[in-house]
Amino acid sequence: MNIAILGGTFDPIHTGHLAIAQEVIDKMNIDKILFIPSGNPPHKNEVTSKEDRFNMTKIAIMDNPKFEISDIEINKQNFSYTIDTINDLHHKYIEDNLFFIIGADNLKFISNWKDSKNLLKKCSFIVLSRPDVSNEDALKYLKDFKKQGAQMKYLESVLLDISSSNIRDRVVMDQSIKYIVPENVIQYINKHGLYKQYPTLDKDLINSMYYFVKSKIPKKRFIHTQGVVQMALELAKIHGENLDKVYIGALFHDISKKMHFEEYKGKIDWDSFEIEQDHLKHGKLGAYILQQHFNVNNEDILNSIRFHTVGRPNMSRLEKIIYLADMVEYGREDGIEELRELCRKDLDKAMYLALIISKDYVIGKGQKIHPIVDKLINEYKSYIHF
Ligand SMILES: [Fe+2]
Ligand SMILES: [Fe+2]
Repeated sequence: MNIAILGGTFDPIHTGHLAIAQEVIDKMNIDKILFIPSGNPPHKNEVTSKEDRFNMTKIAIMDNPKFEISDIEINKQNFSYTIDTINDLHHKYIEDNLFFIIGADNLKFISNWKDSKNLLKKCSFIVLSRPDVSNEDALKYLKDFKKQGAQMKYLESVLLDISSSNIRDRVVMDQSIKYIVPENVIQYINKHGLYKQYPTLDKDLINSMYYFVKSKIPKKRFIHTQGVVQMALELAKIHGENLDKVYIGALFHDISKKMHFEEYKGKIDWDSFEIEQDHLKHGKLGAYILQQHFNVNNEDILNSIRFHTVGRPNMSRLEKIIYLADMVEYGREDGIEELRELCRKDLDKAMYLALIISKDYVIGKGQKIHPIVDKLINEYKSYIHF
């Protein structure tokens, strides 16, 4: 039997996943799709509990006899690597051929996966086209991998532009997710109050702020913004900060990143260093935009946006949360796990480490360092006990 494996967090599973799975069966000579919800990543607040994700996946696929679910990853203590999962599955499905489904956006990362050479030998791959990767580029990668002996097939799939993170946002804003998520999964989400733990602001206001920000920044920057919102809310819950203020600060922190700063000359109180450095201007301009368009005058919220770029002396808890969430949101590259963990434990110690890291980063890029940075490092030094 030909079995194709579809792994993911499924947080939540949606019709895009199901349509893809059906298409793989129809077009790739596959007999069965094995859905494998991932275990919880090391930091358990990152995703919905593995039990909920498993349950949602299970009920989403139950009317299709060719869809099955596996608990192989959620039953493990630690987050599993693909190679380990494939090895385990080989023991279970001795007689069968295994295919691993990936999106074309993953092709460039495979070589970095654990034991990737071995992985490429151990199973075949079904590569799904993605809106953000051209067929040409994907096929080039496939050719290279095939040269190395890998078995890969490309599937130009129905491109349903649905993402789990947008579904979570819709739930927050009280928008319908009908037809995007299977009906029984919607019932599960409602019954267990999933994705609802967000601010208490008026839903229409959240809604208009969200779409306002989304319309002003490029898609990639908006994904980062969503990550900062999620991370900031997580930190707010841990440290007892007001969720509404955190939500607005995080949502707007990068709103003006791509705006034309010249238009606002004279209106914004940029310091002499910011005037020279364009990439630092978006903090204060972002606060101005929020004030102008939504009449938000809460100084703490405005300051959290104004000073998320370089910080300032005596930052409030909200300001620290936005500054830090910007650095440690889950979309950021590896290497900041220690800082992320510290953010959960102690915001001041985290500020110290964050300032050191960003100073090194700025030096590495050959840019000038804002004079405030060394002062701040001194301020937070007292929180670190050597
Ligand atoms: Fe920023
Ligand atoms: Fe940012």
